[in-house]
Amino acid sequence: MAEFVTVARVSDFEEGAAKAFTVNGEMIAVVLCEGQFYAINNICSHAYAELHEGEVDTDECTIECPLHGSQFSLETGRPRTLPAITPVETYAVHVVGDEIQVAVS
Ligand code: FES
Repeated sequence: MAEFVTVARVSDFEEGAAKAFTVNGEMIAVVLCEGQFYAINNICSHAYAELHEGEVDTDECTIECPLHGSQFSLETGRPRTLPAITPVETYAVHVVGDEIQVAVS
């Protein structure tokens, strides 16, 4: 079972913020959308681009790849638009006090 690792503070995020972290060797993006934290793999499944550099849609809770524009669901990691067709991995997030913890196996 994956262990939860503290990556950031809640107070460092504002709505729609996306930040990159490396946890257990995995590059992840942590995103705040509609008051909920999400963690997804930060590397686009289509080619090499870092998703945290893309735009967050806070109505849909998606993040847009900055390279070719695929929009990924923050909840499921599935692309909603082409050209990406493969989901990015998602990770469990816990908020404990002011700490954001992510489980990456
Ligand atoms: S690299 Fe992300 S859509 Fe192409």
